[in-house]
Amino acid sequence: MIKLHDKHFKPFISATEINDAVQRLAVEIANDVGDEIPVFVGILNGSFMVVSDFVKEYPKPCEVTFIKLASYEGVKSTEDIQRLIGLTQDLTGRTVIILEDIIDTGNTLAEVHRIFENEKVKSLKIATLFYKPEAYKKDFKLHYVGIEIPNKFIVGYGLDYNGLGRNLPEIYQIKETQHMTNLVLFGPPGAGKGTQADFLKEKYNLVHISTGDVFRYNIKNETALGMLAKSYMDKGELVPDQVTIDMLNAEVEKNTDANGFIFDGFPRTNTQADALAKLMDSKDSQINAMIALEVDDEILVERLLSRGKTSGRSDDADESIIRNRIAEYYDKTAILKDFYSAQNKYFGVDGVGSIEDITVRLSSVIDGL
Ligand code: IMP
Ligand code: MG
Repeated sequence: MIKLHDKHFKPFISATEINDAVQRLAVEIANDVGDEIPVFVGILNGSFMVVSDFVKEYPKPCEVTFIKLASYEGVKSTEDIQRLIGLTQDLTGRTVIILEDIIDTGNTLAEVHRIFENEKVKSLKIATLFYKPEAYKKDFKLHYVGIEIPNKFIVGYGLDYNGLGRNLPEIYQIKETQHMTNLVLFGPPGAGKGTQADFLKEKYNLVHISTGDVFRYNIKNETALGMLAKSYMDKGELVPDQVTIDMLNAEVEKNTDANGFIFDGFPRTNTQADALAKLMDSKDSQINAMIALEVDDEILVERLLSRGKTSGRSDDADESIIRNRIAEYYDKTAILKDFYSAQNKYFGVDGVGSIEDITVRLSSVIDGL
């Protein structure tokens, strides 16, 4: 990952992939041009790198020139194209091929066509290394396209963000969600997970996603995913991970302005932890930490028994049931502790003390991430 000015960018297209695309363009264009000596016209500034690499790959004689146009402000293309350097040579009767680094809205291309309107060239063709089909709003034909990319801002290989990034030999894509803090919260029954999650979500503007709640919500509201999950449960089968992940994805998408998420009740297996990592990656984010509240078994038993006296929850009334639930918790979470430890993301926090003290301990872990 890299940072330019205020924005983060992640690796997107490698130098090798770029090189392959440039080579393909050179071969394709050389075949079409035949014995003509073409004039390649690069559009500055962005195209300096692709033009340089392209003409080195071009297997036959050619000429190279540049025009200089400017349209972009920050990460947005503007309608208002400035012509900074126009054509400086007569191209009458010539085979002209425009070499663009990237075609986005097509505004720059419209200006290029205006420039050539009154030139009596033999032919005018457009080649671009990168093309964003979803952003393109014009009808001009693009004769040669290197790589089609999604409508997201990129830098590198000649392309800049406010002046920076042009020198990078590969392409980086903007990361859209910045600085999310995503936690997986664990704790044995009675550890005070719910209480602490409530504090943390307030303090850090996080959204608490409890898988149990998400399931109940989807089933109660008969969402497509809820009905799908229920069809498995009715047959006594486990709900496939993908269904759960799809539900979590929907929750994450409902809360795009959150500073992050607290996952509670998920993942339970390595496969699920991998799936969650992929989900976060698709949001340009990641799980930052697994935080586990650690409380001695005897204290848990005591806490749960006393809760059972007032809550009326039958599973909090029987000591052997309580001990089983605790044992099961350690059984199940041990694998995940290993999973996240291997990535230096496991944080055990002492869960014995006053609620405030424990909140302070959790906060210091989160602040240190
Ligand atoms: P268009 O006029 O919207 O097609 O955009 C053309 C110009 O905007 C390109 O020549 C680039 O200079 C710039 N541009 C478009 N998309 C990007 C991008 O993703 N990163 C950096 N510059 C871009
Ligand atoms: Mg350009």
